[in-house]
Amino acid sequence: MVTNAAGDPFEALGDPNRRDILRLLSEGDKAVSQIAAALPISRPAVSRHLRLLKEAGLVAEEARGTSRIYHLREEGLLDRSLIYATDINEVVLQRAKAGIFPLERMQEYTDNYIRAGGERSFSEYYVARYDGARFARELADGVVFAQHNLVSDAAFNEFHVITCRNVLIYFAQPLQARVHRLFYDSLATFGVLALGQKETIRFSPHEREFEELDADERLFKRVR
Ligand SMILES: C[S@@+](CC[C@H](N)C(=O)[O-])C[C@H]1O[C@@H](n2cnc3c(N)ncnc32)[C@H](O)[C@@H]1O
Repeated sequence: MVTNAAGDPFEALGDPNRRDILRLLSEGDKAVSQIAAALPISRPAVSRHLRLLKEAGLVAEEARGTSRIYHLREEGLLDRSLIYATDINEVVLQRAKAGIFPLERMQEYTDNYIRAGGERSFSEYYVARYDGARFARELADGVVFAQHNLVSDAAFNEFHVITCRNVLIYFAQPLQARVHRLFYDSLATFGVLALGQKETIRFSPHEREFEELDADERLFKRVR
């Protein structure tokens, strides 16, 4: 069923078919017929989902010959998002705020950007200097850098997405369970949690409060 996402990207992402469409488009631009062939929904349903994704600013279309081709619109979410970048360590926060990263990581970041559906040249976002790659200041316009201890500090907001990768791997089970509770308290219902490659919410006392969205990418959805 197609529900009315009314231009809200987070509403639009609430539907599993629309998430499947975005996943397909992240692999490459596609026409409606190609999307319909890959999903268990009809062509008119795909068109309706695409219209909602367009209204939400997540996809764009262009004419190529006689076909209309859809692609991800990378700028669709950033303008409307507030991102909290938190860490226990002030030095780490200052480094993130400075936006300077080692040049030797740029190939890996470029590959990730392309895999995620990036349309532009990734190098447009940074300037290479002797001390590393300095990222464009405006990328941090919607980012609040704040010190926060996952173990002892409380939830301070309700989020649609939390990514916390390669931190819990260093914590013993009881401490992990405590942080899982913090994630639960901090996520909106149907909000998404992204963990690291060796981390999981399975076997945690909070396992039943989450549903696995993508086993390989360690994505979980708060369901209760
Ligand atoms: C291995 S790094 C992972 C960084 C990044 N997520 C990644 O995957 O590249 C772990 C980070 O967790 C932070 N950290 C450790 N304990 C923490 C805690 N109790 N609360 C918040 N951050 C913590 C450290 O300061 C460090 O920046």
